[in-house]
Amino acid sequence: MCGIVGVLGNHEAAPMLLDALKRLEYRGYDSAGLATVNDGRLDRRRAVGKLVNLSDLLVHQPLPGKAGIGHTRWATHGAPTRANAHPHRAGPVAVVHNGIIENFRELRADLAKAGFGHETDTDTETVALLTRRHMQEGMSAEDAARATIARLEGAYALLFLFAGEDDLLIAARKGSPLAVGHGKGEMFVGSDAIALAPMTDRITYLEEGDIAVITRAGATITDAGGRLANRPVKTIALDHARVDKGGHRHFMAKEIAEQPMVIGNALRHYLTEAGDDIRLPGDMPDLGQVERLVLVACGTAYYACLTAKYWFEQLAGLPVDVDIASEFRYREPPLAPGTLAIFVSQSGETADTLAALRYCRDRVAGIVAVVNVEESTIARASDLALPIHAGAEIGVASTKAFTCQLTVLLLLALRAARARGRMDAARLADLLSALRGLPATLNTALEIDAPVREVARDLSAARSTLFLGRGLMYPLALEGALKLKEISYIHAEAYASGELKHGPIALIDETLPVIVMAPCDALFDKTVSNMQEVMARGGRIVLVSDAEGVEAAGGGTFRAITMPVTDPVLAPILYALPAQLIAYHTAIAKGTDVDQPRNLAKSVTVE
Ligand code: AGP
Repeated sequence: MCGIVGVLGNHEAAPMLLDALKRLEYRGYDSAGLATVNDGRLDRRRAVGKLVNLSDLLVHQPLPGKAGIGHTRWATHGAPTRANAHPHRAGPVAVVHNGIIENFRELRADLAKAGFGHETDTDTETVALLTRRHMQEGMSAEDAARATIARLEGAYALLFLFAGEDDLLIAARKGSPLAVGHGKGEMFVGSDAIALAPMTDRITYLEEGDIAVITRAGATITDAGGRLANRPVKTIALDHARVDKGGHRHFMAKEIAEQPMVIGNALRHYLTEAGDDIRLPGDMPDLGQVERLVLVACGTAYYACLTAKYWFEQLAGLPVDVDIASEFRYREPPLAPGTLAIFVSQSGETADTLAALRYCRDRVAGIVAVVNVEESTIARASDLALPIHAGAEIGVASTKAFTCQLTVLLLLALRAARARGRMDAARLADLLSALRGLPATLNTALEIDAPVREVARDLSAARSTLFLGRGLMYPLALEGALKLKEISYIHAEAYASGELKHGPIALIDETLPVIVMAPCDALFDKTVSNMQEVMARGGRIVLVSDAEGVEAAGGGTFRAITMPVTDPVLAPILYALPAQLIAYHTAIAKGTDVDQPRNLAKSVTVE
C-alpha cells in the first residue's frame, strides 16, 4: 500500500513531507520521492529503498519550496526503480498515486498516438501525461486534473502539484483513502491521519469520488457528481495517531505487549459498567433472528473469522460460512435473505474484503464490519461498523488487532448464544468474568518470553515448520504459521492435528520442528496421541500448553512452553501470544525486518 502526503505550508515543505512519509513507513514500500514548487519552479527528488536514502539525497541536493507532495511506493506496475518512483512528472504537473489505474494501457496508447511518449512502466505516469495534454489544450490546472480523473478507471488516491502554482493541490479519492488536514494558514493531505498528526489533528476524510481543490485558505470539495460537498472537519484522537515504539525495539513488540491494555479497552467499550452484560449499538441486527452468518476476511483477520465459526456454532448453534475474501467474491455464493454478513479488517481498506462486501450488498439481511479504523472505507460501506479499539497497529504483522478482533467476535457469539436461548445467564456470567480477567492473564503470559527465545533459536535454523491444533486451536495454528512465515521467511504450514495421519506425517523427521498449540481441554488427549505419532518418527515437538498439559505430555517433547490457565473458550485469544512471540523472536534470530517484512504491505489496497 503506497503512502501519499502533501503540504501547502508557511515553511519549507521537504522536511514536513519527509516526516509525514516516515509515519507512513509501516504501510510497506520500496522507493520514495518528493516534489515541490519554489518560485513557480517544479522540481523533484526520488530514491530507491528506505527513506534514509531520500533524506541523504536531499542533504546533497536540497529541494526548496513551501508547497509539495511526497510518496512511498509499494511497487505494483514496474520494478522498484528510481525511474518508477513517484512523484511522476510530465511538464508542469507532478502526481503521486495510491492504487491501480486499470485502463492505463488504453490511455497510454492514445497519448502515444498524440505524441505523448512514456518514460516509465507505471500507470501513474499516464495520469501526469494526460493532465499535461489537457493543459496543452488550454485547460487550467484544475480543469485539466478534473478532465484526467474523469477518464480513469480503477482505484486511486491522487495528489496533483503544478508548476507556477505554489498555493494549489488537487486531491482525488476513489477506492483508496485520503485525508485533508486543516492547519493555521496551512493545509495538508495524507493517506491517513497518522501521517498528518504532527501538523494537525483537524481532519476531513474524502469520500468515494470526491475531488478537493486545496489552497492555504482551505479545501473546496466536490462529490462524485461534481456537486459541492460539505465534508465535516473532525478532531482526531491524537493518541490513535501517536506513532512511536514506546521504548520497544520494534512496533510489533510494542503491539504484542499492548494486548492486555487494548483488549481491556475493547471490553470496556462492549460490556456494561458492571461488566456483567454485553453492550452493542442499538442498530446491531438481532442475532436471535439471523438464520446464517457469513464471515469474510483476508489473512490474519480470516483466521479470526475461522475461530469465530467455532464459537458461533458451538455456543449459539448458529450456522456459519467463512471465506477468504478473494475467493468469496469470485465464487459468487448464493446468499439467503436471512443471512448476516460480517467483514473483519484491521485497516478497513483491504481491496478483496471491500469487493466481497460490495458483492453482499442487496443480497443479505445486513452487513456488519469489525474494523480497527473507524473512518475506513469498509467501515463506511457497511450498515454498522464495530470498532475493535486496538489503537494504531503499525507492524505489518497483525497482533493486537487479531486478539481484539477475536474479543469482539466472541462477544457477538455470546450475544447470539443468549438471544437464541442456547446459553443461560450463569454460563454467560462465567465467560464474561473470564474475559474481564483475560488482560491480567495475558500480562502473566507475557512472561513466557524467555522460553520462547530458546524455541526461536532452534526454529531459526529450520527450513520449514509445522503447526498443529485441534478445535479452537486449529485456526490459531494457521495464524501461528502465517506469523512465522511472514516475518521470518521460514516456510510454515498448519494442520488440524487429526489430519496429520492423512498425509502430512510423511514430512516428519528430526529436521522438521512441530509446534503443537494445545491447552489441556476436552481434545487434549487426542492431541497427545498425535504428538506421540510424531515423536515415534523422530519428530521434534514444541508443546504450547498449560501446566497440567505440560505435566501430562511434556515428557519427550523437544521444548515446552507453559501458559497460564483460562476458560477453554477463551484459549485462542490467550494462545495468540505464544504464536506471536515465537514468530517475533525467530525473526530477530534470523535478522529480518520485523516491522516491515520484505514484499509485504500493512494493508493490501490492490487486488
Ligand atoms: C497479517 O499479519 C498480515 N499483515 C495480513 O495477512 C493481514 O491480516 C491481511 O492483509 C488483512 O488485512 P486487514 O485486516 O487490514 O484487512
